Parts: sequence; C-alpha cells; structure tokens
Amino acid sequence: MQLTIASYNDLDNVVELVNQAYRGASFQGWTTEANLIEGPRVDRQALVQNIETGSTTILLARDQASHQVQGCVAVRPTENEEWYLSMLAVSPVSQTAGLGKSIMAAAETFVVERGARSLKISVIDARDALIAWYERRGYQRTGEIEPFPYDDPSVGVPLRADLTLVTLRKHLCG
Ligand SMILES: CC(C)(COP(=O)(O)OP(=O)(O)OC[C@H]1O[C@@H](n2cnc3c(N)ncnc32)[C@H](O)[C@@H]1OP(=O)(O)O)[C@@H](O)C(=O)NCCC(=O)NCCS
Repeated sequence: MQLTIASYNDLDNVVELVNQAYRGASFQGWTTEANLIEGPRVDRQALVQNIETGSTTILLARDQASHQVQGCVAVRPTENEEWYLSMLAVSPVSQTAGLGKSIMAAAETFVVERGARSLKISVIDARDALIAWYERRGYQRTGEIEPFPYDDPSVGVPLRADLTLVTLRKHLCG
C-alpha cells in the first residue's frame, strides 16, 4: 500500500471522505458513529490548522485506476518518540475489503521511518467493534480514560451524555 501526503488541493476530498465514513447520514459502514454524534467530524479550516500548527501529516490511499481518494489517516509526533494517529477513514463503499488494515500498516511504516517507537490513538469507549479491530492490529488499552469534550462545539453534537475516550497504544519496535 502506497500512501501519499495530502496537499491543500486534496483537503475538500478528505473532508468529504472523513465526514461520510464517521457520520454519514445513511449510516453506511460497519463502524459508523452517526448513532453517537451528529454533525461533521472535520472541516477544511480545522485540517489546514492541524497541518500548519500541529505538525500533522495527512496520508491518502488512492484507487489505482481512478486516483480517487478511498482512504486517509493523520499522524503527528507527540513526545518521547511517540506519534498520535487519528482520522483513519475508508470510504463506506470500500470498507471491509482490507483497505483499513493496509492503511494502518503503511501509516506505521511511515512513522517508524521518521523515528517513532510507538503509536497512540483515542477511541470513543462505546465503539466496541472498532476497539476490537484495533486490538487485532496489536493496539492495547493503556488504562487512560479521557472525558469526551462536550464543551467543544467543533467535535459535533453528541447524542449521549456518557461518552468517554479510551487510549490505545502499539509499540512499533523492539
Ligand atoms: C475503521 C475503518 C477505517 C476500517 O476500515 P475497513 O477497510 O473497513 O477495514 P478492513 O477491511 O481492513 O477490516 C475489516 C475488519 O472488520 C471486521 N468486520 C467487518 N464487518 C464487521 C462488523 N459488522 N462488526 C465487526 N467487525 C466487522 C472484519 O472481520 C475485519 O476484521 P479482521 O480482518 O480483523 O478480522 C473503517 O471502518 C472506517 O472508515 N470507519 C469510520 C471512521 C472511523 O471510525 N475511524 C476510526 C476512528 S478511531
């Protein structure tokens, strides 16, 4: 799997893909969170800000024939040779064919080549099937639990009052 680094020209496609995969109104996709949170997951302005001030790299998986963006993931270094992974998304019509796994594996290679020794993610605790998917990829719960940012309107409109975020980590070398 060859991932390419998104340019500013790709961001509208990324916004559409991510919002469709996470919270598409049609509830398509086996991991939709549309039953938990309403509204967009990202907008273009937030992505630009993440790239320019947050050291985030957005990686894209494109269809080999059409070159359309089928999947994406964002990575950024944090501290102590750890990177943070977010915004993993596969177009709902392309899901369950192995693309998500391939993107994760390629993202891990990308960060290891840049010095990462571990990768961390945050997942809404209620998303059991998704957490199990990450666990099958070698991610383990760290025991850290963060409150869901209910006071941040940019994350969308939560439909439940009991959401929290769990942290998972994978050691990538050694
Ligand atoms: C998470 C996501 C990237 C996975 O991508 P994908 O291309 O569907 O995943 P893959 O095809 O590589 O893997 C499919 C896996 O799901 C499992 N699966 C498929 N349908 C399932 C279902 N209804 N319930 C549980 N597991 C299911 C398959 O068994 C397979 O697991 P395994 O290979 O470990 O046994 C994708 O579903 C997505 O974009 N979700 C919305 C965005 C999101 O939630 N991102 C993560 C936020 S932390």
